[in-house]
Amino acid sequence: MKKTIRNFKSMKRKGEPICWVTAYDYPLALCAERAGVDMILVGDSGGMVQLGYETTNSVSMEEMLVMAKAARRGAPNTFLIGDLPQGSYEVSDADAVINALRYIKEASCDAVKLEGGKRILPRVRAIVDAGILVIGHLGLTPQSTQSFGGYRVQGKTRLSFENILKDAFALQKAGVCAILLEAMPDESAHQIAKQLSVPVLGIGAGTHVDGQLLIIHDLLGLYDPFRPKFAKCYIGEVIENYNSFLSQHENIRQMGVETRKDGLLTLVQYALEKYVAEVKSLQFPGEDYEYTLTESSLDSLKRSEMWQE
Ligand code: KIV
Repeated sequence: MKKTIRNFKSMKRKGEPICWVTAYDYPLALCAERAGVDMILVGDSGGMVQLGYETTNSVSMEEMLVMAKAARRGAPNTFLIGDLPQGSYEVSDADAVINALRYIKEASCDAVKLEGGKRILPRVRAIVDAGILVIGHLGLTPQSTQSFGGYRVQGKTRLSFENILKDAFALQKAGVCAILLEAMPDESAHQIAKQLSVPVLGIGAGTHVDGQLLIIHDLLGLYDPFRPKFAKCYIGEVIENYNSFLSQHENIRQMGVETRKDGLLTLVQYALEKYVAEVKSLQFPGEDYEYTLTESSLDSLKRSEMWQE
């Protein structure tokens, strides 16, 4: 059964990690749903990993909708989030509401996500007032990497941590139903997850948040121009199991004809199932796939008035 935001809030309260992955097309969304992920994001990262643009800023709302509709067809029973691409919400509240509504009405999304803190509060309020669930996105926000001077870990200094926490409180007050933190040290993200009442999920934000997101192309090793430290590729770990599954069948061709479990859908599902299991057991990300603070940076953060022991 499709999970709702009530389920995600209850999972946060119970300390049950929420498992989230991106998907931009029918077959990968199908595998994600079969593997039991809790949520799927049709991210503007699809502009890069699926459509081959150099940055996320080139993808249009029309292209996002094509990807969202395909993902919905593959995963009819999974909470689906449409990412508002650059240019679809900055100019006016009306633009933001119209484009958020397009995700809901045309692609049957359950929620939308948009990047930014205080500067986009009016947009968040307008979309929430239109009755649409909104997920905020803080930390490293790829649509504005220029202002960060490139892809850089956020929330490492006291000022940066405090600004992100203030933005998170402001978004929560404006009505977001969850917040995604991207590329932050585990300790800073943990503080934010602990202080907010809405679920706080992370991508590259350590183990101590309420759930994890990975880009499916990273998880499957389907994109090689760039891979951040926090992105774990699962194919190497599941290929042996997949081979041993195949070797149990004397006639793979016949098995394929009868079950269609002889190909990439099955391999991808193995990888996604492993990701889900590792998120649920708090094995992923773990220290190999997270950023941490030096002792002196942590000491400095702990002197912040906003830090809670
Ligand atoms: O577009 C996307 O997939 C995202 C993640 C990188 C957080 O927004």
